[in-house]
Formats: sequence, C-alpha cells, structure tokens
Amino acid sequence: MKTRITELLGIEHPIIQGGMHYVGFAELAAAVSNAGGLGIITGLTQKSPSDLANEIARCRDMTDKPFGVNLTFLPTVTSPDYPGYVRAIIEGGVRVVETAGRNPQQVLPALKDAGIKVIHKCTSVRHSLKAQSIGCDAVSVDGFECGGHPGEDDVPNMILLPRAADELEIPFVASGGMADARSLVAALALGADGMNMGTRFIATREAPVHENVKRALVAASELDTRLVMRPLRNTERVLMNSATQKVLEKEAALGAELRFEDIIDEVAGVYPRVMIDGETDTGVWSCGMVAGLIHDIPTCAELIGRIMSEAEALIRQRLGGML
Ligand SMILES: Cc1cc2nc3c(=O)[nH]c(=O)nc-3n(C[C@H](O)[C@H](O)[C@H](O)COP(=O)(O)O)c2cc1C
Repeated sequence: MKTRITELLGIEHPIIQGGMHYVGFAELAAAVSNAGGLGIITGLTQKSPSDLANEIARCRDMTDKPFGVNLTFLPTVTSPDYPGYVRAIIEGGVRVVETAGRNPQQVLPALKDAGIKVIHKCTSVRHSLKAQSIGCDAVSVDGFECGGHPGEDDVPNMILLPRAADELEIPFVASGGMADARSLVAALALGADGMNMGTRFIATREAPVHENVKRALVAASELDTRLVMRPLRNTERVLMNSATQKVLEKEAALGAELRFEDIIDEVAGVYPRVMIDGETDTGVWSCGMVAGLIHDIPTCAELIGRIMSEAEALIRQRLGGML
C-alpha cells in the first residue's frame, strides 16, 4: 500500500508504533520496523542522552529499516535535557522524530537542519494546524479513544479525523482506537494516510514488558478504561485497576482542591514496576479503549501482516463488492 505517509517515511506499510513510556525500547521498535512499519523508541524512558544514544545503537543492530524516536514534552518542574536528547537523535542518524505534549517549536530548527522528518502528535485540529504552520512534516491525530493523554476536548476519531482532513495540507495518521485492518481502512476512508497504534503493540511477543501486562490487555474490554487527572487538566486514559480506583476516589472527594501531590503515589514513577516487574495494580498506566479489540499476543510481523492482507481484502472484496 502506498500513501503519503509511506512515501514520506520510506516505509512499506502505513503503520506507526507510537512512543510508549517503558514499552518503546529498541526490541519493539526494531520488530515493528522489520515488519515494514515505523517503530519508535521512547526518548524519555532513557534516563540520559547517552542512554538514548545506546538505545538507538541497539536498535540499529537489530534493523536496517527506518525507525524513529519519540520526544515527549512533559509539564514537569525540572525539564529533561532536551538539547542533549536532540543531539543523541541527530548523531545517531535517526530519520524520524515523533513529538508530543507541548508545541515542539524549540527542537524543530535542529531536527529540520539535520533533515529529520517530524511527526507531531496532537489531539485537536487547532494544534494540528499549529504543527503544520511551524513546519512539522506530518501529524498524528489522537482521538478521545486513545490510551495516554487525549487532551481536554473529548472529540472521538469519527469526527476528529474528517475534521483534520478538511483542514490539513500535510499528511496525517489516525491515532487512538486503532487495532486491525478495519481500523486502517476506516482511517483511510476518513482522510488519514495511515494509522498509529499504541496499546495494540504492547500485546505483541516482542514488546519487552512483563507477561502480566499483555495478559491484562487481552483480558480487558472496551469498558475497562477510565480518565484520571481531569481536575488537573492533564487527563490520562488508563486501565481500571485498584490504583485507578483510589485516584478516582480521591478526585471525587477533593474536587477542585485536588493537587498532584494527593495522587503522586499512584501516578509518579510507577511504569518500571508495572511494565518490567509486572505489578499491574501498583499504579495507573495508560491504556486505550481499543483493549476491547485485543484478543491475542502475535508477533509484530504477524500483526502487521494480517492487518495489511485483511485491509486489501476489505477494500477489494467487501467495499468493492458493494459497488
Ligand atoms: C502504556 C502507554 C504509554 C504511553 N506513553 C507515551 C509517551 O511516553 N509519549 C507519548 O507521546 N505517547 C505515549 N503514549 C500514547 C501512544 O503513543 C499513542 O498515541 C496511543 O497509545 C494511541 O492510542 P491507542 O492506545 O488507542 O492505540 C502511551 C500509550 C500507552 C498505552
């Protein structure tokens, strides 16, 4: 399949694996890229720019296909060494960067000068247009269904994607709620040039996370996510578990008085314990509604292979047959 995204990124299939904290290590990024998609290493999971440089080198040892690095701009008090991470990306010869969180303007000149393609992930048409105006090459449009931070507008992809298609000139991928061939064909029909998946890629053989995490995703239904941190305007869609329950109770009790410190035990620094140690109830962790469409733990090649072959059948037979 050829779309503006496969052309822009030099990949075989229009499927991207979004950056995921403590999931997007070299093993997963390389597996997705080897399967013809675009794998992405999560920059900030690496504790320093030199750790990121090592991770990029490890990924290059595992694939000769293009892969990317995610740079997330977090609302933190002490800012990570972004210039250092950008240097590691450029010196590592990475060709694609996925930015997310705040406006990526501060890192764009350096990335663009190095010839790196920048995909900014955002949750609204206005932020997508801003990304286009500052020179991003593409956007990843993240609907309300998505795992992680859906923003505060609550517009699902059935509306958000055609709205983005109406306004944007640069290519974009659909993100949030994408799991299979039906997602891809629907995303293309709504005007996107491909799709970005997060949660679905965690339940793959190569994702270097504890089996408990993969099993939790297979067991979860589309009813098992919740939104937390809305009172802090830092809304996150997470899997329902005992920590999530605790956060929701504190949010209900404290209302507008809620401070980050009130929920710090459930939300801060929990990813290594969840993803590596498999303590899936120890804190809140991002998960999309798409968990309801995840029933197995295939390899990335099996997953992407079946998406592409079923997408072709959907387009040629089911849709073509209706004409
Ligand atoms: C466990 C997990 C961790 C994530 N961490 C990040 C992150 O660090 N930076 C980021 O930009 N997006 C992060 N995301 C969002 C994904 O990149 C992607 O946009 C989102 O998962 C898409 O929605 P989906 O889960 O419905 O596919 C995370 C998602 C999950 C499920």
